[in-house]
Amino acid sequence: MNTSPALYRRSLRVLLENQQPGGAYLACPNMPDYRFSWFRDGAYIAYALTLDGADVGAQHSGVMDAQWASAGRFHNWCADVVNRRADAVARSIERAKAGAPPIFEDTLNTRYLADGQAGPAGWPEFQLDGPGTWLWSLWQYVTCTRLRPLPAAWAQAADLVARYLAALWQTPCYDCWEERGDAVHISTLGAIYAGLAAAEHLLGVDFGQTRQAIRAFVLDRGLTPHGELAKSVGLDMVDANLISVSVPHALLPPDDPIMRKTIARIEHDLHAPGSGVYRHLEDTYYGGGPWVLLALWLAWYYFELGDAARASALTKWAEAQANATGNLPEQVNDRLLAPAFYAGWVAQRGPIASPLLWSHAKYLIVRQRSLYGPASG
Ligand code: BGC
Repeated sequence: MNTSPALYRRSLRVLLENQQPGGAYLACPNMPDYRFSWFRDGAYIAYALTLDGADVGAQHSGVMDAQWASAGRFHNWCADVVNRRADAVARSIERAKAGAPPIFEDTLNTRYLADGQAGPAGWPEFQLDGPGTWLWSLWQYVTCTRLRPLPAAWAQAADLVARYLAALWQTPCYDCWEERGDAVHISTLGAIYAGLAAAEHLLGVDFGQTRQAIRAFVLDRGLTPHGELAKSVGLDMVDANLISVSVPHALLPPDDPIMRKTIARIEHDLHAPGSGVYRHLEDTYYGGGPWVLLALWLAWYYFELGDAARASALTKWAEAQANATGNLPEQVNDRLLAPAFYAGWVAQRGPIASPLLWSHAKYLIVRQRSLYGPASG
């Protein structure tokens, strides 16, 4: 398929221009509640720039380019955020190993200021998918750039995060939509699984037993009565975030029968034909509209599966959501699941976030897949 050169250029600009001097990426520059940096969003942004940088590098004799430099700065920033909290993270690991519930102050936050301080209180901060996705993204960067040896600060942070995730993986936490803090979410387990796999490659440490335990838990406790992956343990419901369990987190391959069933239900419940993809059927955030980055995530899945036709249709829809400036929003406000909630969110937070850097990152990732086919690792 032909992607849009203009949206490619705009996406690159949006990502690079909204990186702060210390390396943090703002989730969205013009929505006050999103002028922070999330490990989750940033991990995908850094991955998009890593892939794009490899492309540019290949065309310019491997010269270090803006994309790789930017992704490297983000990884530095993450490592610094973690290392500054080394004592607290170590206390969380010890408590979890002793079977005690975590103390909130000792857990990693989700939303940070550009200087690495935690964002204002009152946010659902305890989320385990972000650190897992960061480890995965860091490994992608190190593999792609062939960076050796691993900088000491990165190794220290990766080791802390991996041991933190290995100790806390069964602890209920907020999911990647920052909802349902009292449940264990299957997409979160996928991110932790991927993070531990990445740590094995990065550090040469064996987390195989924990990864197998997570996989066994997902297959035993993480399915709906119909055999799809469940949004959370005990829920007969899918969430579009379950795509990540396969792509990119590789707990299941894209053509695994459970994954295919899960995607079929996501298609049925959450993908309005000719439109984007909802997060889940109970979504009320900004009225619960279809999300651009989820349409692109499903496209990414189909590219990995080798179904370019479906992937292209979703990508085209996502491209059509860019405004006149070329900015991609978080979600769109047609076909809302819960229209009565829309105005309340606009009053509280302002218009739907746009440009959302994570949407632009997903666009760059999908563009790479459309050019080069499935990833090998
Ligand atoms: C989403 C998160 C995201 C954050 C920043 C929230 O509304 O639920 O997934 O990380 O916005 O983009």
